[in-house]
Amino acid sequence: MRFQILYTSISTHPRGHVSDLDILKKAQSANRELGLTGFLLRAPNRFIQILEGDYDHVTRIMSRIRKDPNHTITQEMSHLGPSPRMFQDWSMGYADIPEAEGAKLTETFAGLYQEWAHTLHTLREIATQFSQTRDPGHEKGPA
Ligand SMILES: Cc1cc2nc3c(=O)[nH]c(=O)nc-3n(C[C@H](O)[C@H](O)[C@H](O)COP(=O)(O)O)c2cc1C
Repeated sequence: MRFQILYTSISTHPRGHVSDLDILKKAQSANRELGLTGFLLRAPNRFIQILEGDYDHVTRIMSRIRKDPNHTITQEMSHLGPSPRMFQDWSMGYADIPEAEGAKLTETFAGLYQEWAHTLHTLREIATQFSQTRDPGHEKGPA
């Protein structure tokens, strides 16, 4: 079964801090190895991340992310089911978004809790709009 987790968090450091690059590098290499895909949106003071893949792998990585002192998670939702991957083009895509966009998304997600597919479509549109990278990570890992 495919497992997807979406969360929003307040970052400890502002965007551009040296830890941002470290997070992204770690995420891309670990996710590629485990066949996870996803996207990280970075607003000046927040993160919004979607992670998808095998249940056990997503859960394992997510338990590390929850403990990471670089942020404090404020909202988390997950979905288990046969839905297709939505972020298969990225082992962990990355895009900078304006603070206002981040705040708006955080509100939208709270309101859309029951409508998972819609939530992911919204997120994917924004990821694609702001992203300038493509980094397929799913070929090597499990489906
Ligand atoms: C916003 C944010 C997103 C992250 N995303 C990932 C990710 O997708 N995959 C990953 O392996 N680590 C991610 N990390 C890093 C983990 O929290 C953790 O530092 C990393 O897995 C290394 O853990 P370890 O030091 O216990 O080995 C993220 C951290 C932050 C703050």
